[in-house]
Parts: sequence; C-alpha cells; structure tokens
Amino acid sequence: MNAADLLARQRVVPVVVIDNADDAVPLAKTLLASGLDAIEVTLRTGAGLEAIERIASEVPDMLVGAGSIRRAAQVAEVKAAGALFAVSPGSSDALLESVADAELPFVPGAVTASETLKLLDLGYTLQKFFPAEISGGAAYLKAIAAPIPEVSFMPTGGIGPDNASDYLSLANVTCIGGSWIAPPALLREKNFDAIAEFATAAAKL
Ligand code: 3PG
Repeated sequence: MNAADLLARQRVVPVVVIDNADDAVPLAKTLLASGLDAIEVTLRTGAGLEAIERIASEVPDMLVGAGSIRRAAQVAEVKAAGALFAVSPGSSDALLESVADAELPFVPGAVTASETLKLLDLGYTLQKFFPAEISGGAAYLKAIAAPIPEVSFMPTGGIGPDNASDYLSLANVTCIGGSWIAPPALLREKNFDAIAEFATAAAKL
C-alpha cells in the first residue's frame, strides 16, 4: 500500500519527539484512547527507533510511522523496527531508492512546485509540506492546488489549534501534523492527562 492510501483516513497526525523509550507505549495508548490512531515518531533522539519498536509490538492498533528520515540507511532500520510508513522533510535520490527497495510507504517533503512535480513523476501523490507556516502556509497550498491538483499534502511546522482548520479546509490537504498534541515538555513530565486533552481536541478537528 502506498502512503496516500495508508494515511487517507487520517486528519491529524501527532509528530512526537521521544527522549525516553519508556514513554512510547503510554503515549501511543493515550493518543489512541483520545481518537488519534496514527503517530509519527521522529528520529531526532536516540530513543526514536526503540520507541517505534515498542509501539509496533505493544500497541498494534496504532499506525506507527517514522519521521525526520534523512538517510537511506535509516529506512531499513525503521522498517525492521516495525514502522508502517516513513516521513521526511525532503527527499534525496538515495532515500527515494531506499524506500522503493524496502517497499515502505513514504511521504517525502516538498516546498516548491518543482520539488512537488519531481516527486509526482515518481508516483508520490501525498507529500509533506514543511515548514508549512513559514513556507507560505495554507495560502500557498491553496494556490498550488490549481496548477497541480494531483498532489495532496501533509503540512507540518507551525500548525496548532489556532490555524489547523485553515489547512484542514483545503481540498489538497489529506492530514496535518504537529508537535502541539504531545509537546516534548509534557512528555518529559509524563503528563499524559494533558496530552489526552490536546489529543481529544485534535481528534475533533
Ligand atoms: C515536523 O517534523 O513535522 C515538525 O517538527 C512539526 O512541526 P511543529 O513542531 O511546528 O509542529
């Protein structure tokens, strides 16, 4: 299955930075109970890979993906850990080759029309748009829908409760992502009640 089909039902995907792999399962269970059934665990910390592994094995109903993928070698690692999809802020030839070889659903990032068209040529009809707010935001995505209607986006970067609906109201936005749902500070405090509140509100968007 490709990422566009895999993520078609999602509207809001929490992007999480996990410092302590012990927090992964309680976090995933909190999000799931709050109505969010996909999570992007970023490879920005040493615990990221183990967090993916634990969620994949202990919270099977959660659609777990790996985020901030930058190097081709990371693809095999996240697939072995159980990631069901991968997300990158951009793409490189090596990365694109690696995800194709691994047959791992992939959401590559694009910010310009040329980047979007190159990825569309390769069949990527779902692309990440990051950093969304400072790259033109919802207004940019609305404008690009006219000349490039085949591509749908997963914008992240600077999105939160105040501007989420600007993006979600666009026909070329499949889902939005962001760290506001499970902020690293709340996670470090293991404040799963506060995260549940953010997640419940996000699930209603
Ligand atoms: C990402 O990788 O998608 C971003 O770090 C999420 O951006 P945010 O922290 O501004 O939500």
